[in-house]
Amino acid sequence: PTFTVGYLVGSIARQSINRKLAMALVKLAPDELKMQEIPIRDLPFYSYDHDNDYPEVARQFKQAIAAVDAVLFVTPEYNRSIPGVLKNAIDWASRPFGQNAFTRKPSAVIGTSPGSIGTAVAQQHMRSVLGYCNSPQMNAVEAYIQFTPDLIDDDGNIATESTREFLSKYLAEFRQFIERVLTVLPREA
Ligand code: FNR
Repeated sequence: PTFTVGYLVGSIARQSINRKLAMALVKLAPDELKMQEIPIRDLPFYSYDHDNDYPEVARQFKQAIAAVDAVLFVTPEYNRSIPGVLKNAIDWASRPFGQNAFTRKPSAVIGTSPGSIGTAVAQQHMRSVLGYCNSPQMNAVEAYIQFTPDLIDDDGNIATESTREFLSKYLAEFRQFIERVLTVLPREA
Protein backbone atom coordinates (compact mmCIF):
# COMPACT_ATOMS: atom_id res chain seq x y z
CA PRO A 1 0.00 0.00 0.00
CA THR A 2 0.99 3.63 -0.40
CA PHE A 3 0.68 6.22 2.34
CA THR A 4 0.57 9.99 2.30
CA VAL A 5 2.98 11.66 4.72
CA GLY A 6 2.58 15.32 5.60
CA TYR A 7 5.84 16.79 6.81
CA LEU A 8 6.20 19.87 8.98
CA VAL A 9 9.49 21.78 9.01
CA GLY A 10 9.99 23.28 12.46
CA SER A 11 11.91 26.29 11.15
CA ILE A 12 10.84 29.23 9.02
CA ALA A 13 14.43 30.42 8.46
CA ARG A 14 15.29 30.99 4.80
CA GLN A 15 18.48 28.91 5.05
CA SER A 16 16.99 26.30 7.37
CA ILE A 17 19.16 23.20 7.60
CA ASN A 18 16.09 21.25 8.64
CA ARG A 19 14.39 22.26 5.40
CA LYS A 20 17.44 20.84 3.59
CA LEU A 21 17.02 17.65 5.58
CA ALA A 22 13.34 17.55 4.64
CA MET A 23 14.27 17.97 0.97
CA ALA A 24 16.70 15.08 1.31
CA LEU A 25 14.00 12.89 2.87
CA VAL A 26 11.58 13.74 0.05
CA LYS A 27 14.21 12.62 -2.46
CA LEU A 28 15.00 9.41 -0.59
CA ALA A 29 11.44 8.41 0.28
CA PRO A 30 10.33 5.02 -1.03
CA ASP A 31 7.60 5.02 -3.70
CA GLU A 32 5.07 3.89 -1.08
CA LEU A 33 5.45 7.16 0.82
CA LYS A 34 3.93 10.22 -0.85
CA MET A 35 5.61 13.16 0.86
CA GLN A 36 3.96 16.58 0.95
CA GLU A 37 4.79 19.64 3.02
CA ILE A 38 2.22 21.04 5.42
CA PRO A 39 3.38 24.65 5.77
CA ILE A 40 3.34 26.42 9.13
CA ARG A 41 4.84 29.77 8.11
CA ASP A 42 1.62 31.76 7.74
CA LEU A 43 -0.10 30.63 10.92
CA PRO A 44 -0.81 33.44 13.41
CA PHE A 45 -0.30 32.86 17.13
CA TYR A 46 -2.83 30.44 18.55
CA SER A 47 -5.20 31.36 21.35
CA TYR A 48 -8.46 29.72 22.35
CA ASP A 49 -10.21 32.97 21.44
CA HIS A 50 -10.17 31.49 17.91
CA ASP A 51 -11.77 28.19 18.89
CA ASN A 52 -15.23 29.18 17.70
CA ASP A 53 -14.03 30.58 14.39
CA TYR A 54 -10.62 29.43 13.16
CA PRO A 55 -9.01 31.73 10.55
CA GLU A 56 -8.91 30.24 7.05
CA VAL A 57 -5.16 29.56 7.17
CA ALA A 58 -5.56 27.53 10.37
CA ARG A 59 -8.56 25.68 8.97
CA GLN A 60 -6.56 24.67 5.91
CA PHE A 61 -3.64 23.65 8.11
CA LYS A 62 -5.82 21.36 10.20
CA GLN A 63 -7.52 19.98 7.13
CA ALA A 64 -4.12 19.15 5.61
CA ILE A 65 -3.17 17.15 8.70
CA ALA A 66 -6.52 15.37 8.72
CA ALA A 67 -6.04 14.41 5.07
CA VAL A 68 -2.68 12.60 5.38
CA ASP A 69 -2.03 9.09 6.70
CA ALA A 70 0.92 10.15 8.86
CA VAL A 71 2.90 13.17 9.96
CA LEU A 72 6.67 13.64 9.97
CA PHE A 73 8.21 16.44 12.03
CA VAL A 74 11.56 17.68 10.74
CA THR A 75 12.63 20.08 13.43
CA PRO A 76 15.53 22.00 14.87
CA GLU A 77 16.18 22.35 18.58
CA TYR A 78 15.91 25.89 19.92
CA ASN A 79 17.12 26.45 23.48
CA ARG A 80 17.00 22.71 24.14
CA SER A 81 13.35 22.47 23.18
CA ILE A 82 10.75 22.69 20.40
CA PRO A 83 10.92 25.88 18.28
CA GLY A 84 8.06 28.24 19.12
CA VAL A 85 6.77 28.28 15.54
CA LEU A 86 6.34 24.51 15.57
CA LYS A 87 4.76 24.34 19.01
CA ASN A 88 2.34 27.06 17.90
CA ALA A 89 1.39 25.00 14.83
CA ILE A 90 0.84 21.90 16.97
CA ASP A 91 -1.38 23.90 19.32
CA TRP A 92 -3.55 25.03 16.37
CA ALA A 93 -3.92 21.45 15.13
CA SER A 94 -4.80 20.10 18.56
CA ARG A 95 -7.80 22.33 19.20
CA PRO A 96 -10.71 23.07 19.70
CA PHE A 97 -10.95 20.50 22.48
CA GLY A 98 -12.28 17.25 21.05
CA GLN A 99 -11.15 18.07 17.51
CA ASN A 100 -7.48 17.24 17.84
CA ALA A 101 -6.09 16.46 14.37
CA PHE A 102 -3.29 14.26 15.77
CA THR A 103 -5.48 11.70 17.51
CA ARG A 104 -4.56 8.20 16.26
CA LYS A 105 -2.40 9.79 13.54
CA PRO A 106 0.97 8.02 13.28
CA SER A 107 3.99 10.32 13.55
CA ALA A 108 7.75 10.41 13.63
CA VAL A 109 10.30 13.06 14.52
CA ILE A 110 13.69 13.79 13.01
CA GLY A 111 15.97 16.79 13.13
CA THR A 112 19.39 18.22 12.50
CA SER A 113 21.64 20.64 14.31
CA PRO A 114 25.30 21.62 14.05
CA GLY A 115 25.70 20.42 17.64
CA SER A 116 26.73 16.85 18.32
CA ILE A 117 23.52 15.75 20.05
CA GLY A 118 21.60 16.71 16.90
CA THR A 119 18.23 17.92 18.35
CA ALA A 120 17.91 15.02 20.81
CA VAL A 121 16.45 17.16 23.59
CA ALA A 122 13.88 18.86 21.33
CA GLN A 123 12.86 15.43 20.03
CA GLN A 124 12.37 14.19 23.57
CA HIS A 125 10.08 17.14 24.23
CA MET A 126 8.20 16.33 21.03
CA ARG A 127 7.56 12.83 22.38
CA SER A 128 5.84 14.33 25.38
CA VAL A 129 3.69 16.66 23.28
CA LEU A 130 2.73 13.99 20.74
CA GLY A 131 1.96 11.56 23.54
CA TYR A 132 -0.50 14.02 25.01
CA CYS A 133 -1.98 14.55 21.55
CA ASN A 134 -2.59 10.77 21.31
CA SER A 135 -0.39 10.31 18.25
CA PRO A 136 1.19 6.85 17.96
CA GLN A 137 4.89 7.64 17.56
CA MET A 138 7.70 5.68 15.99
CA ASN A 139 10.13 5.04 18.85
CA ALA A 140 12.97 3.71 16.76
CA VAL A 141 14.83 4.33 14.47
CA GLU A 142 15.89 7.52 16.27
CA ALA A 143 17.58 10.09 14.03
CA TYR A 144 19.77 12.80 15.49
CA ILE A 145 21.57 14.26 12.51
CA GLN A 146 24.65 16.40 13.14
CA PHE A 147 24.79 18.92 10.33
CA THR A 148 28.15 19.75 8.79
CA PRO A 149 28.41 22.60 6.23
CA ASP A 150 28.24 20.49 3.05
CA LEU A 151 26.21 17.52 4.31
CA ILE A 152 23.05 18.40 2.33
CA ASP A 153 22.75 20.98 -0.45
CA ASP A 154 19.71 23.21 -1.16
CA ASP A 155 18.18 20.59 -3.44
CA GLY A 156 18.39 17.84 -0.85
CA ASN A 157 21.41 16.03 -2.25
CA ILE A 158 23.35 14.26 0.52
CA ALA A 159 27.13 14.28 0.34
CA THR A 160 27.78 11.33 2.63
CA GLU A 161 26.85 7.79 1.62
CA SER A 162 26.46 6.57 5.21
CA THR A 163 23.97 9.38 5.95
CA ARG A 164 22.02 8.53 2.80
CA GLU A 165 21.83 4.89 3.87
CA PHE A 166 20.82 5.79 7.40
CA LEU A 167 18.03 8.12 6.26
CA SER A 168 16.76 5.49 3.83
CA LYS A 169 16.61 3.01 6.67
CA TYR A 170 14.74 5.56 8.79
CA LEU A 171 12.15 6.09 6.05
CA ALA A 172 11.73 2.36 5.44
CA GLU A 173 11.12 1.85 9.14
CA PHE A 174 8.59 4.71 9.16
CA ARG A 175 6.75 3.15 6.23
CA GLN A 176 6.45 -0.13 8.14
CA PHE A 177 5.39 1.69 11.29
CA ILE A 178 2.59 3.53 9.47
CA GLU A 179 1.34 0.28 7.97
CA ARG A 180 1.33 -1.46 11.35
CA VAL A 181 -0.46 1.39 13.10
CA LEU A 182 -3.12 1.79 10.42
CA THR A 183 -3.70 -1.97 10.41
CA VAL A 184 -4.35 -2.30 14.13
CA LEU A 185 -5.74 1.17 14.72
CA PRO A 186 -7.80 2.34 11.74
CA ARG A 187 -8.60 6.01 12.24
CA GLU A 188 -12.31 5.64 11.58
CA ALA A 189 -12.79 2.82 14.10
C1 FNR B 1 19.80 27.43 18.30
N1 FNR B 1 20.63 26.35 18.02
C2 FNR B 1 20.61 25.25 18.87
N2 FNR B 1 21.19 24.05 18.49
C3 FNR B 1 21.09 22.98 19.30
O1 FNR B 1 21.59 21.93 18.95
N3 FNR B 1 20.46 23.05 20.50
C4 FNR B 1 19.86 24.19 20.94
O2 FNR B 1 19.29 24.21 22.00
C5 FNR B 1 19.95 25.34 20.11
N4 FNR B 1 19.35 26.51 20.47
C6 FNR B 1 19.16 27.50 19.56
C7 FNR B 1 18.30 28.57 19.84
C8 FNR B 1 18.02 29.50 18.87
C9 FNR B 1 17.03 30.60 19.15
C10 FNR B 1 18.64 29.41 17.60
C11 FNR B 1 18.33 30.42 16.52
C12 FNR B 1 19.51 28.41 17.33
C13 FNR B 1 21.41 26.30 16.78
C14 FNR B 1 20.58 25.64 15.70
O3 FNR B 1 20.76 24.25 15.72
C15 FNR B 1 21.00 26.17 14.30
O4 FNR B 1 20.74 27.57 14.24
C16 FNR B 1 20.24 25.48 13.18
O5 FNR B 1 20.61 26.05 11.94
C17 FNR B 1 18.73 25.61 13.37
O6 FNR B 1 18.03 24.85 12.43
P1 FNR B 1 17.29 25.59 11.20
O7 FNR B 1 16.42 26.65 11.77
O8 FNR B 1 18.39 26.17 10.34
O9 FNR B 1 16.55 24.49 10.51
